[in-house]
Amino acid sequence: MRTIYLDNAATTWPKPAEVSRAMVECVEEYGANPGRGGHKLSMKASKVVYGTRVKLAQLFGIRNPNDIFFAANATQALNQAIKGFCKPGMHVITTALEHNSVRRPLEFMKREHGIEITYSKPDANHLFSVEEIRKAIRPETGLIVVTHGSNLLGTITPIAEIGKLAREHGITYLVDAAQTAGVLPIHVEEMAIDMLAFPGHKGLYGPQGTGGLYVRSDLSLVPLLHGGTGGQSELADQPDTRPDRYESGTLNTPGIAGLGAGVEFVLQTGVDTIREKEWKLTRLALEELAQMPGIHVYGPDRQIERLAVIPLTVDGIEASELAYILDQQYNIAVRSGFHCTPLAHETAGTAETGAVRISFGYFNSEEDVQALITALKEIQEAFGM
Ligand SMILES: Cc1ncc(COP(=O)(O)O)c(C=O)c1O
Repeated sequence: MRTIYLDNAATTWPKPAEVSRAMVECVEEYGANPGRGGHKLSMKASKVVYGTRVKLAQLFGIRNPNDIFFAANATQALNQAIKGFCKPGMHVITTALEHNSVRRPLEFMKREHGIEITYSKPDANHLFSVEEIRKAIRPETGLIVVTHGSNLLGTITPIAEIGKLAREHGITYLVDAAQTAGVLPIHVEEMAIDMLAFPGHKGLYGPQGTGGLYVRSDLSLVPLLHGGTGGQSELADQPDTRPDRYESGTLNTPGIAGLGAGVEFVLQTGVDTIREKEWKLTRLALEELAQMPGIHVYGPDRQIERLAVIPLTVDGIEASELAYILDQQYNIAVRSGFHCTPLAHETAGTAETGAVRISFGYFNSEEDVQALITALKEIQEAFGM
């Protein structure tokens, strides 16, 4: 029985065939250490790593590919950005929809380094207004950090407008693009984004263990890690040169090779085409779910554009049980629980119950949506609903 994979917000699957091919090619044909040797295999590995930087730069409108630093995931990139930038006494504005990958490093910096945090609240549709963020600005505000799209509710943040506001006030601006890189257009120059954190394993169709951070060229962070960089080994301190400053230790070359193939797939397919398909499936699912008594969908009104993420609860069935039945009896993979974002669950009113999250990717089809709807109807019937 084919698995219907509806957990793309956690990690997209399946991947384009080129991704695994690029990884296998790396391991089998040139798997040397990039940037650590002058021999041909090492140079080839360096070339492939740089090639992935170039493709990411093209996708995100980044002028210098060496302003992009590879990380293991979006969480590591966000930790580098937040811990490397915040200073004692700094005020940070963020939102009440953040993932723990933003909230926890901020709360750590508050506890250990005395920063102050304002969590901006969304409106009844869970949407953010730039005005609310403007009202939170203080003279000591040094950073605004927002998620581009909520991993629970699918709401989309107006990142270009917030970027404009941040630039007007000279405030550094960090965007968490974990749910939107490869899915929505992102242009760091046009959107005035100073730092952009992204995973490789979601909408960029790369493998797990990949991600990265863009940091504007004139911004300097305290590195999260100190260690070997291949170049300038004579220095006792971490070098200032990019990308070495924020890339200590051997890189995940096979993963980065796979990520390069994933980004190439996104560039060739087009972000707009990917988005159009995901939104079509999401709209179809929202329409179907709206007809079903006993099913509660959270997030903005269904006419409002959202990411391909639908959180729901079903009367009389616990979220974890529903996900278990979908998996065991129908081979439909979804996620249940709190999705690393208790803040968003509080906002949605599901802090007690959790929710089942359905999330589509480019490789899902309308048949997958219909299979989900049929399964939900059968499960409700079996529970006597
Ligand atoms: C909004 C958001 N931020 C950050 C992350 C963390 O991403 P990663 O799993 O790549 O560390 C996620 C993961 O789901 C997310 O949805």
